[in-house]
Amino acid sequence: MKYKSQKIAYWFFATCMLLFSLQIIYGFIMGFARIGMDGLHDWIPFNAARATHTNLLVVWLLCGFMGAAHFIIPDEADREIYSVKLAYVQLISLIIVGVIAIIGFHFNWWEGRKFLEIPRPLDYLVVVNVLLFLFNIGMTVWKGNKHSTTGIVLYLGLFAAALLYLPGMIYFDHQTLDSFFRWWVVHLWVEGVWELIMGSILAYLLIKLTGVDREVIEKWLYIIVGLTFLSGILGTGHHYYYIGTPKYWLWVGGIFSALEPIAFLGMALYAIAMYRRSGKEHPNKISLYWTMGCAILSFVGAGFLGFAHTLPQVNLYTHGTLVTAMHGHMAFWGAYGMLVLAIISYSIPLMTGRKLWNNMTGLLSFWTSNIGMVGMTGAFAVAGIVQVYLERRLNMDFLAVQKEIEVHFIGLLMAATLFTFGIILYIINFIRFGLPNDEAIQSKDFSD
Ligand code: HEM
Ligand code: HEM
Ligand SMILES: [Fe+2]
Repeated sequence: MKYKSQKIAYWFFATCMLLFSLQIIYGFIMGFARIGMDGLHDWIPFNAARATHTNLLVVWLLCGFMGAAHFIIPDEADREIYSVKLAYVQLISLIIVGVIAIIGFHFNWWEGRKFLEIPRPLDYLVVVNVLLFLFNIGMTVWKGNKHSTTGIVLYLGLFAAALLYLPGMIYFDHQTLDSFFRWWVVHLWVEGVWELIMGSILAYLLIKLTGVDREVIEKWLYIIVGLTFLSGILGTGHHYYYIGTPKYWLWVGGIFSALEPIAFLGMALYAIAMYRRSGKEHPNKISLYWTMGCAILSFVGAGFLGFAHTLPQVNLYTHGTLVTAMHGHMAFWGAYGMLVLAIISYSIPLMTGRKLWNNMTGLLSFWTSNIGMVGMTGAFAVAGIVQVYLERRLNMDFLAVQKEIEVHFIGLLMAATLFTFGIILYIINFIRFGLPNDEAIQSKDFSD
């Protein structure tokens, strides 16, 4: 760690761990409800649990990106964060808005638009909050002594993500229009600007962990950004097949979204190529595991499993079923969950000055959580395929089908237990590092 203010990242990451734990609890509430054990129904009905589960996911990932920015930007811009006080005010106000939103869901105060359930008045607070963040990080970049491609792509990704939140706030009294613009947020985030955030954080981690020249790694970053925009923007069309939009979207969405996996494949190949070129052995092996895991599993979850249902002929049958949940879990985990865990694993020894690099807990956490997530994806896949077949080919009644697939949720819960075991180990390791401290300023990385 070079600058004192990088320590702010720790508190964003600690918030991440807390919200992630809560997200998993709500996952279990739904999993049990799916097998008929729905004792909490009066207080936490399925819709409230689902909205809480997915919104907590988005907020802990955003917190992770914000933490990453507070750690990476000072390093890349060669100066302290513009205002430390503002950073803490922003984090605390974000937590307050988040808590109000979650409580609101339990009292039916929500919008019912998947992933954008937060009611409009709270949206305005989110906007103010994110503006504070962008201002503080933007001033740090602006006043920086150095300007790097990695830092600028990270900032542009965060900036564009904030901008794209706005189309989701326009009010429509028409279902199709509302849906049309909802995807500008949801799709253009995960398959557009979040990929810039991912590409730049991966670039930073690879520069640090492999010791390969920055010039080489940053050249790849340009290619990834290009591929992402080329396919991802018009790829939004894969959500416009049968929602009341014009027919041409079948072609546009089909063709461009089928190209989207190339950007994810590019990221996986680039990480593997850099890993193979690495000259020096970095002591932080665990962070390298998460980094490589992220690059590879994001291709599997987003690229491969996304492609599996992206053609209009397939999506006609799979739309809105558990096939979507299968893809949603592996894609979010592989691309963004593991990315955040990678940057936490990398930065925490540097912020705390404790070199607990490679221990059994860390390794076990990596393997059990990933094997667990592969199992969960498999359980959702089997349930989803059976659901599609019975409901959409054999025309069985929706609820009768839900009863048929109950058994697969037992498998889901078992795999989720293994996953959760891994995450508990990760959090134990996080706590063992202790708090960040100023003496850690001395702790240098080998590539610095
Ligand atoms: C570990 C325990 C977890 C369990 C038991 C669990 C279970 C579930 C269940 C039952 C649903 C609702 C599916 C339905 O509509 O019936 C769901 C939705 C979802 N979960 Fe999880 N989950 C867990 C962890 C995670 C993690 C770690 C992530 C992301 C990294 C995640 C991402 C999602 C997403 C994106 C959805 C919405 C899927 C869609 O749009 O269809 N979940 N989860
Ligand atoms: C990291 C990147 C990605 C993440 C996190 C992600 C996550 C998700 C989630 C959560 C949904 C459900 C959204 C909702 O119903 O509101 C979804 C839907 C979808 N995704 Fe992805 N995705 C990613 C990349 C991709 C890619 C690259 C493709 C195509 C190659 C793809 C194809 C699809 C399709 C076709 C749907 C619609 C499913 C339906 O009709 O129900 N995704 N994705
Ligand atoms: Fe999409």
